Amino acid sequence: MEIIIQPTVEEMSKTAARVVARVLNTKPNAVLGLATGSTPLGLYQELVRMHREDGLDFSQVTTFNLDEYVGLKKNHPQSYHYFMHENLFKHINIPKENIHIPMGTTDNYAAFCQWYEQRIVQCGGIDLQVLGIGADGHIAFNEPASSLGSRTRIKTLARQTIDDNARFFSKPEEVPIYAITMGVGTIMEAQKIILLANGTKKAAAVAAAIEGPVTGMITASALQLHRDVMFIVDQEAAADLKMREYYQWIQAKMPDAP
Ligand code: F6R
Repeated sequence: MEIIIQPTVEEMSKTAARVVARVLNTKPNAVLGLATGSTPLGLYQELVRMHREDGLDFSQVTTFNLDEYVGLKKNHPQSYHYFMHENLFKHINIPKENIHIPMGTTDNYAAFCQWYEQRIVQCGGIDLQVLGIGADGHIAFNEPASSLGSRTRIKTLARQTIDDNARFFSKPEEVPIYAITMGVGTIMEAQKIILLANGTKKAAAVAAAIEGPVTGMITASALQLHRDVMFIVDQEAAADLKMREYYQWIQAKMPDAP
């Protein structure tokens, strides 16, 4: 695992954007896995800036989002469809037909989840997956006690996630209880993964994911088994890491590394 500790959330976002740009420059038709929530907002702003100012091209890019709330229509202001459109897709040149986000309203969720998995494979698999992390250590909506081999399916959100996400809704009762989410197994098949985290609220989850045991109780800990994963975190989110000085030492020595 590579652990990059940046002084600020802005630097965290810029580092992540550079990783995405590097992938797109090497493979213009890359498949990106994308997250929502407050963490990747700065990354998306930076990608939009790179598109406008540096000509970063998304015309051949395909995307798959991690998750969506069950029951929210695409145009609901708290749906992840709406979030992605407003914060990224409407500002870049990605063809509409290349965008995939789990469908929050469908007659047959099981069939949809199966189709989503097949579609990822048909598109050649995910080249770069962007992740956030929940305060309970979840990736996507793989809540504690999720199977580490899980695939795209419906999950019941944990109380902590519902409470954390209530800030986006006018009333806590409006937060959906169910979500469609890629599984841990789905995520682990991405070629490369970056996980972003900022703020003190994430410090315990980041430390458990990187330095704790691999466990379905902290689904981000499964990333310890991935061969190409980078944690990009700010100082606050890195605060509980026991080996923080070592990671910073590696980071400082990186330019001279053989
Ligand atoms: C969202 C997602 C979640 C979030 C996590 C952190 O697509 O998959 O795992 O990344 O809940 O959310 P924020 O960034 O709002 O703290």
